[in-house]
Amino acid sequence: MRGPTAPGITIREATLADVDALVAIFVDVAGEGRWIGSEAPVDVERRRRRMVEDVEGDHAVVLVAEAGGVPVGQLGLDLTPYGVADLGMAVAAGWRGRGVGTALLAAAVERARRAGAHKIALQVWPHNAAALALYERFGFRREGYLTRHYRRRSGELWDAVVMGLPLD
Ligand SMILES: CC(C)(COP(=O)(O)OP(=O)(O)OC[C@H]1O[C@@H](n2cnc3c(N)ncnc32)[C@H](O)[C@@H]1OP(=O)(O)O)[C@@H](O)C(=O)NCCC(=O)NCCS
Repeated sequence: MRGPTAPGITIREATLADVDALVAIFVDVAGEGRWIGSEAPVDVERRRRRMVEDVEGDHAVVLVAEAGGVPVGQLGLDLTPYGVADLGMAVAAGWRGRGVGTALLAAAVERARRAGAHKIALQVWPHNAAALALYERFGFRREGYLTRHYRRRSGELWDAVVMGLPLD
């Protein structure tokens, strides 16, 4: 699946050599505190072990977006035994709004189909306008709404939007 997408951006499957860079992006985005489920402080060793398992195993797909040979974004698909691919993604803050997320998501849809998944599913915070717009542009539908569902480290309870994209 290697090939140019947005100018200068390449999407490919991650290898073990990418793990440190991908964990670093994850830690930074978690540190922003408002886009993904994980929050600082991230248990880096645990995250690293999980990333290694995901890269090495058949139960997951990890895609990397590279710019000039440097990882600038990542997308993970958890291939559940019931045919749903659970998606999570993050683009490094300085690279957002330049088509990296679009390139990653296009590759993920193709990859999930190839893995035999009948659907991609995800959850997103209602305030994450960029992510909601990106997913809706790819045809994801809002399937549900979780009210006061996730306890944040601040003590707040956050809502989440449940989205799905059927592939069959
Ligand atoms: C959400 C995210 C992955 C999008 O990646 P990206 O590389 O910025 O996305 P793109 O540049 O490909 O933009 C794709 C579309 O997203 C939407 N979008 C991007 N930034 C936006 C913004 N700030 N506000 C509203 N819509 C926005 C637009 O529809 C855009 O399409 P357009 O360029 O044709 O208008 C990225 O912002 C990110 O990593 N955010 C932090 C982590 C995160 O939120 N992960 C998802 C958790 S569910």
